[in-house]
Amino acid sequence: MLPSDRIIVPLDVPNETAAIALLDQLPQVSFWKVGLELFVGSGGQILETLKQRQKRIFLDLKFHDIPNTMAGACRSAARYGVDLLTVHAAAGRIALQTAQTAATEEAGTIGIAPPRLIGITVLTSLTAQALAFELKIPLELTDYALQMALLAKESGLAGAVCSPQEVAQLREICGKDFLLVCPGVRPTWAAKGDQQRAMTPAAALQAGADYLVIGRPITTAADPADAFRQICVEIQ
Ligand code: C5P
Repeated sequence: MLPSDRIIVPLDVPNETAAIALLDQLPQVSFWKVGLELFVGSGGQILETLKQRQKRIFLDLKFHDIPNTMAGACRSAARYGVDLLTVHAAAGRIALQTAQTAATEEAGTIGIAPPRLIGITVLTSLTAQALAFELKIPLELTDYALQMALLAKESGLAGAVCSPQEVAQLREICGKDFLLVCPGVRPTWAAKGDQQRAMTPAAALQAGADYLVIGRPITTAADPADAFRQICVEIQ
């Protein structure tokens, strides 16, 4: 895989016009993430646009519902031909299994590659205190993230989203074929912003990440194309 193919850039913009402006600015980016803001703002049209431009798609809608609804949502997502799709591991084993099966069957029916489902372990915005006192989960944050990754793996999901801080441990426990996707990545020359526990792209890959989600260091750089190129050189 080319170094540039390991970088997923989020289209963290509110509408299709802004998304297309970003796509035009960064034609060398092959893998884009569409999250809730853009999907709710623009509907599925942006996914069609990405497919027309032969881009790979990480549809990050973080499904979390009953098994039947998860299955329906995953079937619909599969029809767009997305590559990666997020679901909350906390939805539970039956929901995860049902979702993966539904996505695979739907893609098979229309003769396209199935999306790979990846589990959200713990939202990085959750503090240890919130986990204990709001969600009443009696585990350390890292232990809980590991348990959720294992649940995702045992339920047949392709991988998990995790912080670069957890990636080495998850790689060791979940094995080499489990996809690990890391946001919270910052080159040394970029501002950390709200990513407090960031790691450099090279260090995150070295620790075992398969894909890196890197947004603002590229999208808000004075020269986004040059920022992307620099990161590719750094991880070569
Ligand atoms: O701009 P930045 O590099 O911080 O963007 C990171 C992207 O990854 C954003 O789209 C953000 O929503 C997403 N993300 C994250 N932390 C998570 C899960 C997703 O930063 N735990």
